[in-house]
Amino acid sequence: MDLVIEGRAWYKGRLQHVCIGVQDGLIASVKKSLKAERHLDYNDRIILPGAIDVHTHMREPGMTHKEDFATGTTSAAFGGVTCVFDMPNTRPPTIMREDVLEKKEMAAKKAWVDFGLFGGVSDSSNPQRIMDSVIGFKIFMSSTTGSVLLAEDKDIRRALDLIQPTKKVVSVHAEDEHLLLKRQDAGLVQHGESRPPLAEASAISRLADRSKGMAINICHVTSQEGLGALAGGSFTSEATPHHLLLNVTSCTRKGFCKVNPPLRRKEDQEALMAAFADGRIDMLASDHAPHTTDEKERDFDQVPSGVPGVETSFPLMMAQVRKGAISLERLVSAACARPAEVFGLRKGLIEVGRDADLMVLDPRQVGVVSGRRLHSKCGWTLFEGHEAIFPQAVFLRGQLLVEDGGLVGERMGRDVVARRRIPT
Ligand code: DOR
Ligand code: ZN
Repeated sequence: MDLVIEGRAWYKGRLQHVCIGVQDGLIASVKKSLKAERHLDYNDRIILPGAIDVHTHMREPGMTHKEDFATGTTSAAFGGVTCVFDMPNTRPPTIMREDVLEKKEMAAKKAWVDFGLFGGVSDSSNPQRIMDSVIGFKIFMSSTTGSVLLAEDKDIRRALDLIQPTKKVVSVHAEDEHLLLKRQDAGLVQHGESRPPLAEASAISRLADRSKGMAINICHVTSQEGLGALAGGSFTSEATPHHLLLNVTSCTRKGFCKVNPPLRRKEDQEALMAAFADGRIDMLASDHAPHTTDEKERDFDQVPSGVPGVETSFPLMMAQVRKGAISLERLVSAACARPAEVFGLRKGLIEVGRDADLMVLDPRQVGVVSGRRLHSKCGWTLFEGHEAIFPQAVFLRGQLLVEDGGLVGERMGRDVVARRRIPT
């Protein structure tokens, strides 16, 4: 055994004081007592599986003034995220094989945490050509920042027909393009009206028929209407911290709050939190979509949509656990176990045979989010001053990655696709 990590770990569905034995980057044993050359005793601090963020925009290649794989994955690591999935709307988008492979090389050189790349789909591309290299496919049913649009049923049907035999997950940006108002929005409320909850519900409903035979995942659900439509199919789903914790009234930073789908009314925010708390939403995903301060300060209709969040996602929700708004069980499920299960990774649980991706935190150490102290290149957050519980130590495959507020160890992030477990 290389290393033993001891503390109050989330093991078999509850917190238990155990020793986690690590060998060759994997969890080799979990026992009350274990011996090894190196023994790290975290006493009564909490040890959780590293979080898996299944929805981030790392911006490389083509928009590296906003983020790149080095800064984006550093930001992830400090937030307890040991694996990120990157979306295809880069420049070029990852639709063609060469572009996927090229992005993979860039990520492998720079990533501090493990990663998977989503493949994009256009009306003429063949997703099967890239199926071996991607963690899943992304379909944008509406236009948004730099997306390749599939708005028509015939194009969506064609894409799903080609993806179905690959057995990969298809994550969908579900806003119905035909129900969006094409106008110049003067502010946040108008933006929300231009992209109404009904557009979300309609897009989800259009996929319900197909959801039984394949793995369709609905990204960033926001509204009561959207939750209703989800129940009409057999989907998995994501919610973001910004839709769970903010609403169109509480977010006062104008263009900085502009995101697609938009922030909703307080009633929707509360309904979404209730759905997250009772397990109707499968996964917590940040939709980390950094843009620069200059870009976010433009006239509202010129502001690109998207907010950063990979570093604050888990810590903000951990503070919600402490407040009693959600259970620790639900958070660990949504941030770690379910993402691993849905995408077939041997991560996300403290269990023999899984990657030793772990975070250590002290639930009594409640801090506040400060944009200055975050690690994304964009340098700002919507959650300034919000309570958050950041991890004090983070391990990637048994290697210490974050300790005492600093990045330590080697850069060893790698592609998870090659090591994926075949879903049963
Ligand atoms: O607000 C958004 N920003 N929504 C998206 O779907 C894309 C994202 C981005 O890439 O900036
Ligand atoms: Zn996104």
